[in-house]
Amino acid sequence: MSQFVVRPSGPLLGRVPIQGAKNSALKLMAACLLAEGTSRLANVPAITDVEIMGEVLEAIGATVAKDKASEDGALLITTPAKCTPIAPYELVEKMRASVVVLGPLLARHGACRVSMPGGDDFGHRPIDIHLKALVELGVEFHTEHGYIEGRCDRLQGAKIVLDFPSHTATDNVLMAAVLAKGTTVIDNAAREPEVQDLAEMLIGMGANIEGAGTSRIIVEGVDNLRPADHATVPDRVEAATYLAALGIAGGDVSVIGARADHMTMLLDKLAGMGLDIDPFPGGIRVRFLGRLSSVDVATLPYPGVATDYKPLLVTMLSVADGVAIVSENLFTGRFRYVDELRRMGADIRTEGHHAVVRGVKRLSGAPVRAPDIRAGAALVLAGLVGDGETTIAGASHIDRGYEDFVGKLRSIGADITRDETKDLGA
Ligand code: EPU
Repeated sequence: MSQFVVRPSGPLLGRVPIQGAKNSALKLMAACLLAEGTSRLANVPAITDVEIMGEVLEAIGATVAKDKASEDGALLITTPAKCTPIAPYELVEKMRASVVVLGPLLARHGACRVSMPGGDDFGHRPIDIHLKALVELGVEFHTEHGYIEGRCDRLQGAKIVLDFPSHTATDNVLMAAVLAKGTTVIDNAAREPEVQDLAEMLIGMGANIEGAGTSRIIVEGVDNLRPADHATVPDRVEAATYLAALGIAGGDVSVIGARADHMTMLLDKLAGMGLDIDPFPGGIRVRFLGRLSSVDVATLPYPGVATDYKPLLVTMLSVADGVAIVSENLFTGRFRYVDELRRMGADIRTEGHHAVVRGVKRLSGAPVRAPDIRAGAALVLAGLVGDGETTIAGASHIDRGYEDFVGKLRSIGADITRDETKDLGA
């Protein structure tokens, strides 16, 4: 029960370190189930979703501990010879990314019982692409009492064409295929840097994988893998959040550890809006004083502009000079936060999966509610140009994906505090 309280701020100045990527770390943790023994994962962000994935792994029989001997945010994950291949409802309901245990459990134990994830704030989110691909590797599924149960003998390599380059479906199939017998070809694979990170960790564990990061991944199955020792790739969405904060509040900020090569399309958009973007070997420096210009945005699978950036971009566009059309091409329900921005004075009209954003000079501070991780972060940024005070209820959504959000924003000059008592919402 906590909320963020934000007041007009800027210019923002200084350096912000970037955490390991949430959407990689969760899959790397699941991949530890593929090998008996203790794996070490460095640069794992201290966020709630990582804690939930830790609980999922512990329910399955692994142990998860912080590596107290080091300061690189490392986790030690110990996987026993025999696991309980069950991901219970209480955990999958909290975090749908828990479904990435399907691939490793089937590959190593020939069985899994995973609660069927429901819809969420983004709308209907099926996992049919995951299941279809795993069937092609030899799994038989049936669904009962809200659980998906899968069984197989040793998985058999196959030629798989994904209907859509789904990020987590690619992760699941990749983790299954590494222990399958023979060759698996995954066509129309997701190309996200986090998929590449997972493949690099699996290769370090002894897997044979080629083409990760392209739309065709080829896996030559092996009989066994060894435990991992791997560092998580930097979080491009967290980096984008601080770049967007700078765009909204102005200033001169370096995001340390951010990988410009993982954010090319976004950086082009931000430059088109007027930001001075200067990548350097250890990060990205961004400078800006003035008013943003509007640009149109359409979300696409990587390397397109990620849907996760969109609430940040819509918030920037809501105070930019001009009119922009924003199209959401991945999720049906991902404009819900727009009502909250409107309550702050933004001029945004939505029609199906499009939004027309007419920039206004300032927003007006108001009480708002975070509907999910990224939209919650975007509403905090809106508060940086909201006259008066903006309170963002539902801070726990933001805690799912952002390590020390308040501390990092304060360190570059944002006027933000966390209030543990006043959130009266659900
Ligand atoms: N889809 C299907 N069937 C499937 C799988 C996906 O129809 O079996 C559809 C989805 O409904 C959606 C589209 O395919 O319309 C893309 O979904 P995808 O599977 O790529 O998304 P995801 O893997 O479930 C990950 C990230 C999301 C991010 C999306 C898109 C993780 C844990 N989550 O989700 O991140 O928005 O890719 O890039 O990796 C976040 O970090 O806040 C977040 C939501």
